[in-house]
Amino acid sequence: MAERVRVLLSEEEVDARIQAIGEEISRDYEGKQVHLICVLKGGSFFMCELAKRISVPVSLDFMSVASYGSDTKSSGVVKIVKDLDESLRDKDVIVVEDIVDSGRTLSYLLEVLRSREPRSLRLCTLLDKPERRVVNVAVDYTGFQIPDEFVVGYGLDYAQKYRNLPYIGVVELDE
Ligand code: IMP
Ligand code: MG
Repeated sequence: MAERVRVLLSEEEVDARIQAIGEEISRDYEGKQVHLICVLKGGSFFMCELAKRISVPVSLDFMSVASYGSDTKSSGVVKIVKDLDESLRDKDVIVVEDIVDSGRTLSYLLEVLRSREPRSLRLCTLLDKPERRVVNVAVDYTGFQIPDEFVVGYGLDYAQKYRNLPYIGVVELDE
């Protein structure tokens, strides 16, 4: 079966939206330093582009989590595969994610991070699928709300492919 990727959000649309979020964060954190946490691997493309558009001082850290479940559905049981290098204490932290789907991964992760006593903790996601939400998660900055479709690009993968697409697309299988 051949796969095709249909463009859902063009490179220009995504770039413009990231620019706007960068400006919003720069205003909200004026006089402060923001500590961005990238959730690997999906959040990496978004975080780099976002960080470049934030005008207040930025520091970065990375973590990787594995969700026990199939590729397309998370179970909510999350294991930290790679933890952060630095403490969060007294930092103004923004978690940068690719997508909030059921909300299970983020809800668990935010709880873990909150216990490390950051000064503040917010969530920024490029994409949100509100129809799919199972666990309530407060999202502070959202790039786009999208319908319930499986998307790729800008860090998001389908069987580890397509993360490098500079746009958001939907995988379509040709019979
Ligand atoms: P949640 O715990 O259900 O919110 O799952 C979040 C994770 O599932 C994301 O960080 C992605 O890794 C993955 N995911 C959810 N929806 C999609 C999608 O449409 N495309 C690619 N990955 C997705
Ligand atoms: Mg992810």
